[in-house]
Amino acid sequence: MVNDMRFQPALSQVDSLLHASLIPLLDDNFEGFIEQRKVQQLLLTHHLTIDKLMLALLPIATSFSQPRISGFEVGAIALCDEGNLYMGANLELAQLPLNHSVHAEQSAISHAWLRGAKKLVKIAINYSPCGHCRQFINETFEGAETLIILPKREIAPLKQYLPYGFSPKDLGKTEQLLNSKAVDLHYDSEDPLVISAIDAANNSYAPYSGNYAGVALEMVDQRIFTGRVAENAAYNPSLMPMHVALSALNRSGYDCGDIQRAVLVESSDGKLSLANNSLDALHSVTEIELEHLVL
Ligand code: THU
Ligand code: ZN
Repeated sequence: MVNDMRFQPALSQVDSLLHASLIPLLDDNFEGFIEQRKVQQLLLTHHLTIDKLMLALLPIATSFSQPRISGFEVGAIALCDEGNLYMGANLELAQLPLNHSVHAEQSAISHAWLRGAKKLVKIAINYSPCGHCRQFINETFEGAETLIILPKREIAPLKQYLPYGFSPKDLGKTEQLLNSKAVDLHYDSEDPLVISAIDAANNSYAPYSGNYAGVALEMVDQRIFTGRVAENAAYNPSLMPMHVALSALNRSGYDCGDIQRAVLVESSDGKLSLANNSLDALHSVTEIELEHLVL
């Protein structure tokens, strides 16, 4: 029996040989992150390859899914070059158009990004990645080489899933998602939530619009979740900062009803604003107001 009942149904879908190792990991603090040392321990103890381990853990990643519209659960696990595993799952927002959905791959990749990962080496998913996710992965540093791991399919690099892909280079950009440089937005504030949102905006990826943007959500227990915009060369597959933050909040097992403040920071030199998009997403899960700061 796992300490946190969130994971009990998922664990029953994982090879029982792994249970003894996973049970201590799946406690109330488990947010879908497994650090390199633990990953190596799992590989050695169970004589598994990393690909097999990632596939075996997919039910756990999928348990974070919140498909409020479709009921269709997708899970993904990213392996980055420092050897950590980052889980993600799809999130659909009730009462909103379908383009407010976060795909499992986007959730896993934004999870890795928030924790400082620089390069996506492999990603395991329980369904074949859609065109939009192929494009999203192609935005990351050396993304064409990222290996795609699927149940019952040969492992293959993204460039095989997305031949003749459109990429940041086509728009003359040398920066890529996961290895972009921080910007330097300034605002004098002692408010920890505002400071977190500015930090998120400074680490966001907005090479196309220049509208650097970050979100910070404060929970009733003072925990802060942040989200950053991740733009995409093909524009539409871009991931919005509120969606990144809500995805993180979901993985952590928090309840959206426990958000007590929300801040959006965006830069003023952009040709667009994420205010309406952020407000719509926020109001899909809670009625609190959005504090908006343009720097
Ligand atoms: N979905 C993913 O999460 N990844 C994919 O690449 C395929 C589709 C999700 C999006 C939506 O929540 C649901 O599956 C139905 O498309
Ligand atoms: Zn997708």
